Amino acid sequence: MDRSVWCAMNTRRILVAVLCVLAVPAWAHVDSPLLTDPCGSCHVGHGEKGEPMLEKVEEASCFRCHGSDDERNRMVALGHLVPSAVLHDMRPEFDKAFSHPVERGGGHLPDEQLPSYGGAKVSHAECVDCHNPHERVTQGKAMNFSVKGYSLTGQYQERAVYEYNICLKCHTDVSGGKNSGRSLVRDFARTGRSQHPVTRGASGRRMPSLFEQMPAGGLMKCSDCHRSDDPDSPRGPHGSRYPFMLSGNYSRALDADENPFAYEFCYGCHDRTSILGNESFPLHREHIEGDLVAGTRGTSCATCHTAHGSADNPSLIAFNLQAVSPADGTGRIEFRSMGEGTGTCTLKCHGYNHAPGSYQWTP
Ligand code: HEC
Ligand code: HEC
Ligand code: HEC
Ligand code: HEC
Ligand code: HEC
Ligand code: HEC
Ligand code: HEC
Repeated sequence: MDRSVWCAMNTRRILVAVLCVLAVPAWAHVDSPLLTDPCGSCHVGHGEKGEPMLEKVEEASCFRCHGSDDERNRMVALGHLVPSAVLHDMRPEFDKAFSHPVERGGGHLPDEQLPSYGGAKVSHAECVDCHNPHERVTQGKAMNFSVKGYSLTGQYQERAVYEYNICLKCHTDVSGGKNSGRSLVRDFARTGRSQHPVTRGASGRRMPSLFEQMPAGGLMKCSDCHRSDDPDSPRGPHGSRYPFMLSGNYSRALDADENPFAYEFCYGCHDRTSILGNESFPLHREHIEGDLVAGTRGTSCATCHTAHGSADNPSLIAFNLQAVSPADGTGRIEFRSMGEGTGTCTLKCHGYNHAPGSYQWTP
């Protein structure tokens, strides 16, 4: 059915009337040549006031086309979708152990709590929290997120500018359902000393371990790290087999044994050979692998680094306080950089007192 005909037929419905009058031109799920009917491919019937007239509710309405082959074949049979459309089955992503709980609960409820506040009984996310079903989409192209968002300073946005603006709708002060006490807003504050460049552009400084150097001003997305464990899966932070919905395994244990799998996640972008070859921090290998002769165990990257941003330190240094305690004598926990490859640490770790311990990179 033609859009104008559909609109004409439904203008009695107040809800639709408003939208038809506004007639947002760039709707493009709507304009997609793969949909046989710009509106009727998703909307059915004549509707009730306040209801979007979808055959199925929420995510189920998306899985009719973005679900199994059977579901898609049914849509083709019903004449809603052209047979040549190639769409991924998204459901397996959401069925993974660490995923956005789209199927938990019904729609959003007034007494629902943000995941940030932990213990949230019905906290969940809908496809339409992150995707506008009326958005213009071209397969394989980056999306323009025509959904609501929040800025880092808590400013409401009618339309998110960056991907992270969407995440900040739900992940705010104390990030994550597991309530680790960390704050995403603080992690990614533009005033922080260092960050994986999500909210401000990269410095353009050469980092020896990177497989791909990042140009000055370059940006990362949250979903560069929080996404499927399978690189061939659909893009996006839908689900992963690994904790924190990361693209790879990341052991955060205080006394972990180093191997390619333990830090698979970091090694996806930072060359393991370079890290263990001490190309930046001359004591990387000693700390990460431990020392068999001295009888010390290795420790996780997370003992020294945060993966988001460090308010106070360069090089994403933010010590894990479960591993590190104040140094005897000075009572301080401190990292001081004296330029790349040179610095001091004042702290106590694995029984060793660094008061301070210093390092210097020598070519
Ligand atoms: C890809 C599926 C899809 C297509 C195509 C589509 N819609 Fe929608 N529409 C939805 C979904 C899903 C919702 C519910 C959104 C929500 O819950 O926030 C919705 C909601 C609406 C609403 C309720 C107000 C709102 O925005 O939430 C109106 C009106 C509407 N659609 C009109 C249209 C018209 C007119 C067209 C054709 C030009 C169209 N839709 C095409 C999926 C679609
Ligand atoms: C009637 C079938 C149908 C329904 C229902 C449907 N979609 Fe789609 N969707 C498509 C098609 C076809 C495309 C590819 C558009 C193109 O390439 O022109 C697409 C593309 C997308 C894309 C972009 C994919 C890319 O590769 O960039 C997203 C995101 C998306 N849909 C989300 C949703 C969400 C969320 C819902 C539920 C609210 C939904 N879709 C419901 C058919 C559908
Ligand atoms: C509508 C609310 C909502 C939005 C928007 C949202 N999330 Fe979530 N997120 C949740 C909920 C609910 C959970 C599950 C928490 C739980 O199960 O304890 C979650 C879980 C996560 C987790 C796993 C946390 C953990 O402790 O394992 C990550 C990572 C995550 N989201 C990242 C993102 C990213 C990246 C974005 C933006 C692209 C985003 N989220 C947008 C609600 C949201
Ligand atoms: C460079 C990779 C990377 C980027 C970029 C990234 N994260 Fe994370 N995120 C991680 C890792 C790794 C963890 C696990 C905790 C840790 O080690 O710090 C994590 C943890 C989380 C958690 C759970 C936190 C908790 O304390 O329970 C949430 C929620 C989250 N990230 C959301 C986001 C959002 C939203 C963005 C974008 C603004 C983002 N992340 C950007 C790697 C990343
Ligand atoms: C927490 C936010 C969030 C939720 C919830 C979410 N998505 Fe996504 N989705 C994204 C982001 C971000 C991308 C990647 C965009 C990019 O890279 O351009 C994406 C990508 C996609 C794509 C394109 C994948 C590809 O590579 O072809 C489809 C299709 C899609 N989502 C469908 C869905 C459906 C269906 C649901 C609900 C069942 C859903 N999404 C829920 C954030 C979300
Ligand atoms: C998706 C790719 C990606 C992943 C995964 C990733 N990083 Fe990075 N990392 C980067 C990029 C790109 C930069 C360069 C940022 C810049 O130039 O500002 C960087 C920079 C860094 C820096 C130096 C920051 C500075 O300002 O000096 C450290 C430390 C770091 N990463 C540690 C880690 C650790 C630890 C992990 C695993 C928990 C990890 N990264 C995972 C892409 C990644
Ligand atoms: C004992 C603390 C410690 C541990 C454990 C540690 N790092 Fe570092 N790392 C540092 C310090 C200190 C620097 C900064 C060196 C300088 O430039 O002065 C650094 C620098 C870096 C850099 C930036 C420069 C570069 O490209 O090499 C990356 C990336 C990095 N570390 C990744 C990792 C990864 C991945 C792990 C785990 C496999 C890890 N680090 C474990 C202390 C640590």
